Amino acid sequence: MIEARNLTLALGKPPARTEILKGIDLSVQAGESVALLGPSGSGKSSLMAILAGMERPTSGSVRVAGLDFDRLNENQLAIARRGRIGIILQAFHLLPTMTALENVAVPLELAGQTDAFVRARAELMAVGLGHRLTHYPSQLSGGEQQRVAIARALVSRPTLLFADEPTGNLDGATGREIMDLLFARHGETAATLFVITHDRVLAARCDRIIELADGNIVSDSIPA
Ligand SMILES: Nc1ncnc2c1ncn2[C@@H]1O[C@H](COP(=O)(O)OP(=O)(O)OP(=O)(O)O)[C@@H](O)[C@H]1O
Ligand SMILES: [Mg+2]
Repeated sequence: MIEARNLTLALGKPPARTEILKGIDLSVQAGESVALLGPSGSGKSSLMAILAGMERPTSGSVRVAGLDFDRLNENQLAIARRGRIGIILQAFHLLPTMTALENVAVPLELAGQTDAFVRARAELMAVGLGHRLTHYPSQLSGGEQQRVAIARALVSRPTLLFADEPTGNLDGATGREIMDLLFARHGETAATLFVITHDRVLAARCDRIIELADGNIVSDSIPA
């Protein structure tokens, strides 16, 4: 599902040029759930951005869901990501002028699906928000906003789901509910799940734990 070879990422101009990723090799099988751990600044979000096709590596190759990212231009990449890759971030990034239902329907409408609102409603029901369809993000709690973001990421049935500290802005109990939901939806959809976290308990719920330090993978193990 994911094949990354000798990925490097360096950003900024000298003398502020920073080597962020220093030669990452990674293979992830379809359906696997992977936790990415590591200190702040170790390159987790940067690695995810490359694997999700949001950022280009400085060198190395990425093949995700059968796509050679290096061979696609920006436009082709954007289209290819639709329906294949879902992304959930720590800050929910909902559109403030749209209701929960509209936020979830947007990716389907962009893809020209005529049943966008029917599917968006079903997905919001699946994350337990059937009673908040016409609320705007400002009228929703943090946990509810993250549920909308999860529904939006899942509604196009991605084969690959990326979550960057999805519980980072939530209290402990709400965070656990969100992770329960994410793992449940992962189980139902058979998507590959890639989750960045600082929480070792959470990481241990994944099939595999990868640890990053200073731009390198320093361990890759199956939780005890
Ligand atoms: N545009 C940029 N130019 C130079 N350096 C950058 C740029 N963007 C990020 N960095 C640096 O890259 C390093 C890795 O950042 P990244 O966001 O991937 O870390 P992270 O592991 O996700 O950390 P956190 O746990 O704090 O989210 C950081 O040291 C950061 O300062
Ligand atoms: Mg990060």
